[in-house]
Amino acid sequence: MTRELPLLLPLVHIRPLQPVDLPRLMELERLGYPNPWTEAVFQDCFRSDYRGWALQLDGVLQAYAVVAYLFDEAHLLNICVAPSARRAGAGRRLLRHCIAASLHDGMQAMLLEVRRSNQVAAALYETEGFKVIGVRKGYYPDGLGREDALVMSLSLIGEHR
Ligand SMILES: CC(C)(COP(=O)(O)OP(=O)(O)OC[C@H]1O[C@@H](n2cnc3c(N)ncnc32)[C@H](O)[C@@H]1OP(=O)(O)O)[C@@H](O)C(=O)NCCC(=O)NCCS
Repeated sequence: MTRELPLLLPLVHIRPLQPVDLPRLMELERLGYPNPWTEAVFQDCFRSDYRGWALQLDGVLQAYAVVAYLFDEAHLLNICVAPSARRAGAGRRLLRHCIAASLHDGMQAMLLEVRRSNQVAAALYETEGFKVIGVRKGYYPDGLGREDALVMSLSLIGEHR
């Protein structure tokens, strides 16, 4: 008689980003974006009004997010998942963590920009309740041209949460 194998799930752990994570961040950033952040930009995010989060799967950093707090608004500046770890819920889990931490820190809304062509990210944000509230024309570099950003917002208070 065969026995059922236990369901093996990767161990998920979310913790604050640390400067020691920079090499792995740069590796994932270059895989994630056509115009990646520089290391200097990441270094500038280790400040008291920023929150950086690392998602580890089985002890390996596979996703990260950076949020800046301005007055009572949390601005999601970056969220990125290693290509090999995508489509398994890591992005949604990390986004929910950012939202919960922002709410805990007294933020009233979360804002973000997303490339108009980035339908994968937009679908994630929309299914977490974000709404498009504006467009920034030519916000992103795009080869030799520019691409618009959609500005999306989520209320963290009242009836929406
Ligand atoms: C956007 C990103 C963070 C999503 O991470 P992920 O771990 O793959 O996302 P999840 O597995 O949690 O999926 C969440 C939702 O995103 C959408 N999504 C994810 N991958 C998708 C795909 N290949 N096609 C269509 N929708 C997709 C779906 O709505 C999905 O929900 P569902 O699985 O219930 O259908 C990831 O694709 C990424 O790192 N992209 C490169 C960096 C980037 O563009 N960041 C956003 C900048 S604004």
